[in-house]
Formats: sequence, structure tokens, C-alpha cells
Amino acid sequence: KFEELAQTPPLGWNSWNTFATDINEELVKGIADAFVRDGYKEAGYEYIVLDDGWMSRERDENGNLVADPEKFPSGMKALADYVHSKGLKFGLYNCAGSKTCAGYPGSRGYEYQDARLYASWGIDYLKYDWCNTSKLNAEGAYMTMRDAIYAAGNPMVFSICEWGDNDPWKWGKDVGHIWRVTGDIINCWDCEVGHGSWSSWGVWKIINMRKDIRKASGPGHFNDFDMMEVGNGMTDAEDRTHFAMWSMLASPLILGNDIRSASKETIKTLTNKGVIAVNQDKLGIQGLRFTNADGFEIWVKPLTNDEWAMTFVNMTDTVKQIDFDWNHHEIGDDINGLRLDTKKNTYKIKDLFNNKSIGTTTNNLKSTIASHDVLMIRLKK
Ligand code: DGJ
Repeated sequence: KFEELAQTPPLGWNSWNTFATDINEELVKGIADAFVRDGYKEAGYEYIVLDDGWMSRERDENGNLVADPEKFPSGMKALADYVHSKGLKFGLYNCAGSKTCAGYPGSRGYEYQDARLYASWGIDYLKYDWCNTSKLNAEGAYMTMRDAIYAAGNPMVFSICEWGDNDPWKWGKDVGHIWRVTGDIINCWDCEVGHGSWSSWGVWKIINMRKDIRKASGPGHFNDFDMMEVGNGMTDAEDRTHFAMWSMLASPLILGNDIRSASKETIKTLTNKGVIAVNQDKLGIQGLRFTNADGFEIWVKPLTNDEWAMTFVNMTDTVKQIDFDWNHHEIGDDINGLRLDTKKNTYKIKDLFNNKSIGTTTNNLKSTIASHDVLMIRLKK
């Protein structure tokens, strides 16, 4: 059922960051095969989502959307069947406006018809964009599409993509499962490319813009920090940090790289089960920045059963030592009053990227962290 989907952040892949509108059915099949071959499926990734560019430029004579016959000669139903045959789920994209951002037919005025078509193809996920929507009320437009999906009868994850322009964290909970919180991501650590509302944002720009809306996230409704850029040109350390942070933030983990040809190191990062488990924790709480000092950012995320994730990020350009005294810190969370009480309890510490135990909270946590790299740990009594 619609209301039962995305109890934890969706895990999947989306075509846009790497391929833009240059997509086709061989690509989708190759991605589905890589999901199985390289362990993504086993790690929990589930949705394969085609973004903008899958349609023909015009609707047919009955007003139905048509899959581009050159890119998708077998049609969307056959492609959905292929993805389903691998035990995966299939998603598509459209837009609340008259046209999509890349100029293909939008759903405005065709919401129910389009939702029925997606349902007839077996579509499991819909990303719904916000171009060419002059004068539309965002909450209302997204509610119309939600109701159309509901009426069509096939439960779909509904991904709201209006870039945070209309405060979707205030109303998105009852409308969709996830909502984008900014404009588009780009593959850099802390840059802004472009200007004004057409800017693209580096990883830390996005995090800093939206770290204060964390109370809006919870099971079934999550802030979406955008598709990931892991494997798209940042260093391996920066990729690890990006992945760790998207997990700490309980963001959807949507791969944005060409996983058919990813490096060993990229696969290792993206399929790290310990890190993914932090993202997928049932409490569904978006982590918070506990402190930033001496070139480190330290982030905390409460997990079920009084377990905790912590991420220490070296924000500087040089290698740094961390020496963290548990006794001098009151660590907690302001959503539900959970406290990490290292005076009362001793927690065992696991280093998630290196998959090894590194002592307990009775001693200072000491580690060497490379520039832009992380130490991500899980604490357990
Ligand atoms: C804008 C969205 O923010 C992107 O993620 C992508 O869907 C493009 N539109 C597609 O045109």
C-alpha cells in the first residue's frame, strides 16, 4: 500500500546524474544486471529509476504518453518485466508542469491518465519534477498526482522534486514519501556552480543548507538530499564522506553513477552494509551535527535499541588526528530526547568502513583521518 512504502529511505539508482536524457533499454538492463552482479541488490538497493528523457516528444492520439521507440523499442512494460524478473523495482519520471524540464510532455491535466498508464506497466516509483509550473500551487499539484497514483491502484513510491522551493518539509509528509530539499547536486565537495535558482550544489553546500529541517524526516517521509555523486569524479575519501553523510542524514540512497563500470573502491563504498544499516535504521531519524571544531565535523544519529552512529569528518586539507574523550561530551538528540550516556553505559565501537572493532567508550577514541575522509562508527552496548 501507498502508506506502507518507504518506511526506511528508498535505495536505488537514477539515470540523470550520469546520462541525462541519453538513456535506453540496454542501459537499464545493464544496470539491473550490475545490481545483481556487483552486490548492490544484496546490499539492499531495489529501485531502478529512469529520469527525464524516456518519452516521445508528443502524446499519442488518445493522449497517452509514449516511450521513445528508438530508445525503448520493446516498450516500458517489457522493460519493467525485465527489471522485475531480477527481483528489482522500476521507476519513471514526469513533471507537474505542462512540459518536463527537458521539454517532454508533462503530466499537467493528464495526472489520472498517466498514473493509470504507469500502473498498467507495473511501475513502482514515480519521481515528479517541477518545471513549467507557472501559477501552480505546489502542495496542490503534488496532491493531485498522489491521488491519481492512489486511484490507479499500483502502489508507487512518490518522489516530490520541487527543489525545496515551497518548503515541502512542511507538507510533504502527507503527500509523498520523499522530497528534494535543494536544487541539483554536482560532483564536488563544497562548490556552487551556476547562479541563483539555476545553481548546482556540492555535497557540503547541500548538507549545510538543509541540516536544520531534520525533524521533518521519519518512517515513510524523508528529506531527499538528491541522487548521489559517488563514483562520479570526487576522490575516494570524498566519496566515502558523501556516502556516510547521506546515510547519517537518512536521505534516500539513490546511486547516480554508471554502476556497470564502477571501480572496486566505488563498489566497496556503495555496498558497505554497515553504513547502509545506519541509513536504513527503523527509527528513521535524520542525524544532527553535534559539533564542528578544530577542522572536524562530528555527526550523530540515534539508532534503535540505544545504538548510535557517529561520523567524524576531516574538513581540512591535511591529515588530522582525532582524540575524542567520551566523558567530556553530552551527546543527545532533540527529536526524542535520546541520550548517549557513556557514563552509565560502556559501548563497543565498530569502525564501519574498515569493518572492525576499535575498542570501547571507556577510552578516548583515537584515530588518524585523511583529508576529506571520515571515521564512521557504530556504538553498541
Ligand atoms: C531537475 C531535477 O532536479 C533533476 O533531478 C532532474 O530530474 C532534471 N530536472 C530532469 O530534467
